[in-house]
Amino acid sequence: MLLAVMLLVFVTLTTAQNNVRTAIPRDAALETKIEQTLAKMTLDEKIGQMLELNLDIMGRYDANGRWTLNETMLDTLISKWKVGSILNAPGTRAASVEQWQKWIRLIQEKSMKYIGIPDIYGLDHNHGVTYTQGGTLFPQPINQAASFNTELARRGAEITAYESRAANCPWVYNPTIDLGRDPRWPRIWESFGEDALVNSRMVEAQILGYQGSDPNHLDKYHVATSVKHYMAYGAPWTGKDRTPAYLSPQLLREKYFEPFRAAAMAGALTMMVNSASINGVPVHASYEYLTKWLKEDLQWDGMLVTDWADINNLFQREHVAKDKKDAIRIAINAGIDMSMDPYSVDFCILLKELVEEGKVPMERIDDAVRRILRVKYRLNLFNEPNTGGQGYEKFGCQEFADASLRAAEECEVLLKNESNILPLAVGKKILLTGPNANQMRCLHGGWSYTWQGSRAEDLAEKYNTIYEAFCLKYGKQNIILEQGVTYNENGQYFEENTPEISKAVKAAEQADIIVACIGENSYTETPGNLTDLWLSANQRDLVKELAKTGKPIILVLNEGRPRLIADIEPLAQAVIDILIPGNYGADALVNLMSGKANFSAKMPYTYPREINSLNTYDYKVSEEVGTMAGAYNYDAKVSLQWPFGYGLSYTTFEYANLRVDKTQFKADDLLTVSVDVKNTGSRMGKEAVLLYSSDLVASIVPDNKRLRDFAKVELQPGETKTVTFRLPAKQLAFVGADGRWTIEEGDFTLKVGKLTQNITCMQTKIWDTPNL
Ligand code: BGC
Repeated sequence: MLLAVMLLVFVTLTTAQNNVRTAIPRDAALETKIEQTLAKMTLDEKIGQMLELNLDIMGRYDANGRWTLNETMLDTLISKWKVGSILNAPGTRAASVEQWQKWIRLIQEKSMKYIGIPDIYGLDHNHGVTYTQGGTLFPQPINQAASFNTELARRGAEITAYESRAANCPWVYNPTIDLGRDPRWPRIWESFGEDALVNSRMVEAQILGYQGSDPNHLDKYHVATSVKHYMAYGAPWTGKDRTPAYLSPQLLREKYFEPFRAAAMAGALTMMVNSASINGVPVHASYEYLTKWLKEDLQWDGMLVTDWADINNLFQREHVAKDKKDAIRIAINAGIDMSMDPYSVDFCILLKELVEEGKVPMERIDDAVRRILRVKYRLNLFNEPNTGGQGYEKFGCQEFADASLRAAEECEVLLKNESNILPLAVGKKILLTGPNANQMRCLHGGWSYTWQGSRAEDLAEKYNTIYEAFCLKYGKQNIILEQGVTYNENGQYFEENTPEISKAVKAAEQADIIVACIGENSYTETPGNLTDLWLSANQRDLVKELAKTGKPIILVLNEGRPRLIADIEPLAQAVIDILIPGNYGADALVNLMSGKANFSAKMPYTYPREINSLNTYDYKVSEEVGTMAGAYNYDAKVSLQWPFGYGLSYTTFEYANLRVDKTQFKADDLLTVSVDVKNTGSRMGKEAVLLYSSDLVASIVPDNKRLRDFAKVELQPGETKTVTFRLPAKQLAFVGADGRWTIEEGDFTLKVGKLTQNITCMQTKIWDTPNL
């Protein structure tokens, strides 16, 4: 009888699990396996699955800093504590494929032996295989956004997945979609710029690249993603990393949540949570955001992992819990499934006590473990816990290098080109100056071989710095290298050595043209915090002194965020923002500067001109009032260096015939918008075509414009192509004062280039559902 009841409960549970409508349609056979495995697990085993430890603690460093794995320690952690996941590279430095093969294989052997459940190993393979030597690094995500080419982003992710699996790693902590809307924040280069739609499209493309097209059955060349950092991590009030955000419900739902919604619907298997708080609530403690918005409203059945030690931060930093046990109670009940608690197994002891005391319900534990098992089953780790070796011969191959180079060429932005000083013909004498002129670190950025991207020059030797790439293209005899300002590689990322500007000025006497490579050194997270958004005084002085020579100056900006340069920009004849273009960034730069390739990137964020005018492109109409009639001038002005979506090319494009199939529409209509784009210049070029809309009158102050769609087209000289966008009218909706999605009767303008088309919404609609 008991058996019959148990069987009935099991069948009912399984059926209930299988019938739920989820963001990822479920695979019934997998769900059955999950239930069968779960049914066999003890509480200790379940809790162990919910813990993720740092690999570092399973070994020791010798006097030379060399780390070796201690098998006994690993054995204890897996046999006694049943740990379900391990992360990171020892010393946060890239290891070889062979080392990864050895370490992860051993972890899997022990996991299968003691628990019968494979480990899920995770690495920050963020723009390529960060932590695997000899693999391919791509331009950072901010560059990929500047390309406005989702196919580049997809392909980069696909190659990264392949190379991760070659190193036996099935899980990457990427893509990052935090929205870089505050240029002070040190991590804006890690996601796809300031716009919600660009982040959404890029994350969809990358999920496809990383995971393949079937999120229930990943093959051995794909990895699970951990989309991060859910959500609004990029909006710290202070501009400093991991500090609180204060956001209106509109901004949160309409912009910060949107790319995560897109990621959930695109099948992201896991997500990592924002370390900080929103309106006073740490996200790790928010039932509303973790469970309600994501797991219930979207029926997303993936797994939520904390960021680094963030349950501890609920009591140590945020002061919303009185001790670690209290913090675990809050976080797990809020919806956290796995705790990245890098250095301790306390989590297991304390969570067990909480369950036994009835403070964390068993159903919550089962839900979390089900989600963890689900990603392991979806990754096929039970059948094939290890990958790599035969079948992975393409690791680090030329084809992948070419993909990275092509991506770099499409993501460096030409911002100024007075009197067509570019392209730069061979034969001129060029002075290369500035701290970024001869170093790989600033080209590949943070999360490259090491966490901060520093002390890794030895691992990037085979790639070209800007100086090396110039020598190859223009001939060494034509290149003078005199940097004038250099970074202090032994200090913090912003420290510079005593400048030698006069040496650079002297060297300029021999040159026809000056290329000043300026910007920032690499950094990420809190070490990348900043006290002043202006580019360093030394670097600006260098440009000012060089300008006095009267020689033409080309500025090459190589930086993770838009550092203010309003005083030196007028001194330059050309400006190129290469952002952080990766290992082939310098080769791409010379291809572009010499005219071998054509520029086609556009700014993925607004480049500010003033410290007190840090606007985004979708600013409210009331931020740009200009002069007010009456007694005083109303100083609400948007003052930009370069707007979002701005970028030049060696050719010119003309837009014509912007048209829409319905000038009057209702919320449920689909609008078809078309525009003809012609290459009117004499060179082949690619153009990112951006479709914006403006809501002319709304019940809450409307954004002046919003990006609604984009496409990248390639055009031969004289060629015209029609670009067609299919725009569901509901995408023009906004979140109203009552927090509900709303589209109001009235006029809108669609804009592409300088063309506009008016359309009218005939009927107001307010949605009852939290999502459109
Ligand atoms: C970062 C995450 C990263 C994690 C694991 C954290 O400090 O915020 O982006 O994925 O560490 O390395």
